[in-house]
Amino acid sequence: MKIGLIAVIATITGSLAVATFSASGTAEAGDACHHKEFKTEMVRDACKTGGQKAAKDVMKKWNKEKGIKSCNQCHTKLAPTYDLKADAFDQFVKLGGKLIPTKGAKTPLAPAKGK
Ligand code: HEC
Repeated sequence: MKIGLIAVIATITGSLAVATFSASGTAEAGDACHHKEFKTEMVRDACKTGGQKAAKDVMKKWNKEKGIKSCNQCHTKLAPTYDLKADAFDQFVKLGGKLIPTKGAKTPLAPAKGK
């Protein structure tokens, strides 16, 4: 008798646990970043942990700190591609942003290629 009751309770709590788990599992992480290669640690790390939304948040915060009024100062387009101007990385560095050191030769102001 008792064992049967415990089994029933275990089954109920078990299915409850499964239900809550799958419910929380439906919450999806934000979309991945558009760029696949990153030159800045700031954006790379944000993209890695929280996708494009996190990158946007970190960019916004950084822009605020630097007193930048417009995202278009560096981006020719905003969501979803966030195309960069040719001098976006130069501007980024001049404002104190850190680039990821490239392996081998140190080229802090590597020319930003099309994408
Ligand atoms: C000083 C130049 C500069 C300004 C101003 C700027 N950005 Fe950026 N942004 C960059 C650079 C450079 C990258 C690419 C970083 C990399 O390659 O690691 C980037 C990347 C991004 C990305 C990642 C795009 C992706 O999906 O790959 C987002 C999102 C973004 N910026 C949003 C914004 C927003 C929103 C603003 C305005 C609040 C803004 N940026 C203003 C320089 C700038």
